[in-house]
This record gives sequence, structure tokens and C-alpha cells, in this order.
Amino acid sequence: MPSFTHNYWIDPEEKDRVRLKLEEVSKRFPGVQALDKVSFELKVGEVHALCGENGAGKTTLMNILSGNLQPDDGRIKLHDEEVRILSPLEAQKMGIGIVYQEKSLVGNLSVADNIFAGNQPLTNWKLIDRKNCIIRLCNCSVN
Ligand SMILES: Nc1ncnc2c1ncn2[C@@H]1O[C@H](COP(=O)(O)OP(=O)(O)O)[C@@H](O)[C@H]1O
Ligand SMILES: [Mg+2]
Repeated sequence: MPSFTHNYWIDPEEKDRVRLKLEEVSKRFPGVQALDKVSFELKVGEVHALCGENGAGKTTLMNILSGNLQPDDGRIKLHDEEVRILSPLEAQKMGIGIVYQEKSLVGNLSVADNIFAGNQPLTNWKLIDRKNCIIRLCNCSVN
């Protein structure tokens, strides 16, 4: 029988360490309080599912975490240090990425170009290093 349990190694010293913490994060749009003092904690190695009906604020929360929106109030802490995530690029640098529910593929780009969009490995000439893209995707060597 196939096993659906993923065993991956977590540094014992990292285990149970809080990686990401939201404290009383609020966000208001005109006419609607999308988030009202939301607190949330994520430890190293944990996987969470955020559930809620349409309009509950899930996307707004993810947009705040990924730097697409700024909270009106509250704090975000990474490894106990308070951070301000001012843009998606800053979020990426902090190790936070987002995959959108809505399709946002660029039809005339390759699969590799879509996957690496905005984060492509570059050659010394600052051109997109397509060979390196494939290597990183497949974890293999390309001749
Ligand atoms: N850019 C926006 N401008 C105005 N209202 C918004 C905007 N984004 C979300 N909202 C409102 O905020 C609330 C939460 O929306 P959203 O975060 O998309 O919820 P969910 O993803 O859980 O369905 C909804 O009432 C929605 O209409
Ligand atoms: Mg949503």
C-alpha cells in the first residue's frame, strides 16, 4: 500500500520553534472589516489549512503575508523578530511564497518561465539561464 505520510527531517533544535506569528492583524476595506485582530502561529515543519466561508478573509490574510497588502494594525513576527512585509519580493526574500488559486499563467511563456517568473536564475550576462531553470526543476544535469 502506498504511504501518504511524508517523513522529512527537521533539525531537533528547530522543532517546536515558532517560525511565523501573526498578532492581532486587522485589515479594513471600504465598508467591510476583512480581518479583525487575527492571530495565528506556525511552527517549523507544520502544515496548516486555513478554512472559512467566502468572504471570511483568507485571501486578505495571505495577501498580507505575501506582501501584496499592508495590515492596518497588528504585528507579524518571523523567528520572533517583528517584520514589515512591504512587497512580494520582500516576502520571497523572507522565504514566504504564494501560489494563487486563480490561474495566473502567462500563456506565451514556457512552463519553466512561468514557474520561475520574477525569480529566474541569470547567466553572467544577466540573461535568463534556461538551462539552469531546467536543472533546478528536474534536479538533473542537462547537456
Ligand atoms: N480589494 C478589496 N477591496 C474591497 N473589499 C475587499 C477587497 N478584497 C477583499 N475584500 C472584502 O474583504 C472580505 C474578505 O475577502 P477575502 O479575503 O477575499 O475572503 P476569502 O478569501 O476568505 O473569500 C470580503 O468581504 C471581500 O469582499
Ligand atoms: Mg479567497
